[in-house]
Amino acid sequence: MKNNIIQYAKESGFAIPQMNINGLVWIEGILKAAENQQSPIIIGTTDKNIEYLGGYQFILDTIKNKAKAMKVTIPILIHLDHGLSVENCKYAVDAGYDSVMFDGSSLPIEENIKQTKEVVEYAHQKGVFVEGEVGAVGGEEDGLTGEVKYADIDECIDLVKETELDTLAPALGSVHGKYQGEPDLGFEEMNMIRNKVDVPLVLHGASGISNFDLQRAIKLGHAKINFNTEINMSWTKQLRDTLEGDKDLFSPQKILKPSTQAIEKTAEKIIKMCGSNNQNKVFIQN
Ligand code: 13P
Repeated sequence: MKNNIIQYAKESGFAIPQMNINGLVWIEGILKAAENQQSPIIIGTTDKNIEYLGGYQFILDTIKNKAKAMKVTIPILIHLDHGLSVENCKYAVDAGYDSVMFDGSSLPIEENIKQTKEVVEYAHQKGVFVEGEVGAVGGEEDGLTGEVKYADIDECIDLVKETELDTLAPALGSVHGKYQGEPDLGFEEMNMIRNKVDVPLVLHGASGISNFDLQRAIKLGHAKINFNTEINMSWTKQLRDTLEGDKDLFSPQKILKPSTQAIEKTAEKIIKMCGSNNQNKVFIQN
């Protein structure tokens, strides 16, 4: 098994950001930010987008090749976000992903446990980490929609104990995509869960959550925090400004460079909020 940088982050009181990618410029901007900040990073590819990204093997190899070409030195975990089935998680494991999430949150807990366990047994044989989810993250993102459903504490305990997964995402009021109104995280439940399970917790739907609440979540055991929307919004804004600023522009490089820099800038801000800057101490064996 690779060194568990997420466990290390939990013990050291910071979180490693997971940033989801939507193409090559995301890989470039995020890796640049992580290298500049000397931060370990988790690159997320959501299962719903795999076909658009070119398939498990293609996107995995592309991330690795890009990191090599950029001479990136920081530890990178390549993660399957919201794995839609046991089978898909196995594909990602076989392709060489470092970590997979099996999203059994819409299943009855017994079925969630059964399927997550199957993923864990398969993944652990190959040294791949597994994340599981209890409750439901709300909102809409990449074609995944859901109503907020707070995680049940006993279900969290059972999922962790029976599957031996590596990280747990207990849904506690966060949403994917843009928040309608103020985020309302269940910190009391968060405290209870972290006292009952010893694996690091994962916070989904972090875009739009205040720095104050993020720091509370990190103190309460969250060592992996997922971002997508915030990065996409900064990319879109810059792209729009560039195109509107010069109606005659058609050079892809001139159009894409500023928006890639916007990704980099937002990624650096996220890294600092998570406290993972200058935490490049963990050596990952490949
Ligand atoms: P945001 O939509 O809040 O960025 O959340 C991303 C996420 O949780 C991916 O799993």
